[in-house]
Amino acid sequence: MSVWLKSAVFYEIYPNSFMDSDGDGYGDFKGITSRLDHIKSLGANAIWLNPHYRSPFMDGGYDISDYFKVSERFGTEADFDEFINTAHAKGIKVILDLVPGHTSEQNPDFLRSAENTRNDMYDRFIWTNGEWDFPQGYRAVAGRHNRKGNYIVNFFSTQPALNYGFNEVTDPSWQMSYKSESALKTREWLKSVMRFWLDRGADGFRVDMADSLVKNDGDRDEKPATSEIWRDIRKMLDEEYPDAVIVSEWSSPQSIRAGFHADFMLDHHGNPYNLLVRAEECGKHSYFDKNGGGDAAAIADGFTKWYDAVKNNGYIALISCNHDTPRLAPYYTEDQLKLIYTTLFTLPGVPFVYYGDEIGMKYVKDMPSVECGFARTGTRTPMQWNTDKNAGFSSADTTFLPADVDKRINVAAQEKDKKSLLNFLRGFFQFRRSRKEFTDTDLEFLYAKGSEPLVYRRGGLTVAVNPLAVKQTAPVALRPKAKAVFAVGKEAKPSKDGIVVPPMSLTVFE
Ligand code: NOJ
Repeated sequence: MSVWLKSAVFYEIYPNSFMDSDGDGYGDFKGITSRLDHIKSLGANAIWLNPHYRSPFMDGGYDISDYFKVSERFGTEADFDEFINTAHAKGIKVILDLVPGHTSEQNPDFLRSAENTRNDMYDRFIWTNGEWDFPQGYRAVAGRHNRKGNYIVNFFSTQPALNYGFNEVTDPSWQMSYKSESALKTREWLKSVMRFWLDRGADGFRVDMADSLVKNDGDRDEKPATSEIWRDIRKMLDEEYPDAVIVSEWSSPQSIRAGFHADFMLDHHGNPYNLLVRAEECGKHSYFDKNGGGDAAAIADGFTKWYDAVKNNGYIALISCNHDTPRLAPYYTEDQLKLIYTTLFTLPGVPFVYYGDEIGMKYVKDMPSVECGFARTGTRTPMQWNTDKNAGFSSADTTFLPADVDKRINVAAQEKDKKSLLNFLRGFFQFRRSRKEFTDTDLEFLYAKGSEPLVYRRGGLTVAVNPLAVKQTAPVALRPKAKAVFAVGKEAKPSKDGIVVPPMSLTVFE
């Protein structure tokens, strides 16, 4: 197991939006390189870079036309190498986005597969047998190529699914087993992509839709054949690149059983992350709704089950947000964000901070869709560095997306303000680093009920959180000598009735 992951704090960068060094309105590698010190100053020691490959950008770069080249939009091959090398020199690891399940419809391998003659790529993608076939349960795209058949897609119609085969073959006229020679060739091709970027200096991958490889493979918590493939890939990594990590977009403990080092707990209805901060989407109250109505018991129960299922073999990856999800601001205030981040990142798992969340950048509602971002577009606006043109992101007259120039929500302003979210988070990550309990010890929930204070233990540390705008007491007896070592808002105090937790506060006791 790669040791560095244990103490990793990740910073997610959407390259279009982070920093534009050449004034063309898009972020680029040189821009990222110039801002590595900002990432380091936050206390992050690893980066997850969203897709950097050559792409027509019909889905923010998750549609790759050349897996072995960087996008010219982000700079040259040399700029990419400089970025990785500079990050390493500063003690920052870099994981890249790996998109194993589908390519761009403009990928030359796909175009070759779309020719109506048998060739070396004929079975690299999944095609039905005839141009009038629309198999139930699949999304098949018809009428775009001369091959007599329709291709299956994983996401948008511009993203044809690579052929890793089927677990249960229900129609052998067009479905192949995941053990077929063609499916095995796709798997070997994927390994070659991974080796290429690992040899180039990458420290691992965030794996897009990791559970999507094999078709007819049961539900998300099973996926036996897809899991078999990932275990095979993990074996390759352990043998050839023992320090490399793979973090999956899967959102199930099955991912760790499949060989991933960590797995994102994503915003899925009813899971602990959703119940903590995003339950409104399903007509409920989040735990962090300051007016109450949350469900701490369900959060504690769900988190404990998930954690117990993975803890000896991998990590849960906990996110402030990501490029697919509305940012938590403006739905929560800055004070609430402090509580939310510290709660998430004192639970067992690997923290992932989405760029801009450290200054409380807002989700921009009703933003016109760009590059098929749709509702996600409002979460991908340019990083806000200062109050200059385009918030200091770019000198261009037109940028990838308009920047939100805000007097307070920018790095320069918050650097100067001791009480800013940015400085608060810097202090928090320093504290987190100094206490091994957060990475070395287990989790035990001591009290979890409705919107009452959530109290949990990490080794010798006890954390008490109150999300409400009123003081609350948790019936938990602390050790007599317990002292507060970190607090958000006013410190909680032990009393004969339990821990008295001030409104909207979090305290860590030792
Ligand atoms: C998940 C990615 O996070 C998202 O941005 C992308 O559109 C889909 N997978 C398809 O690759």
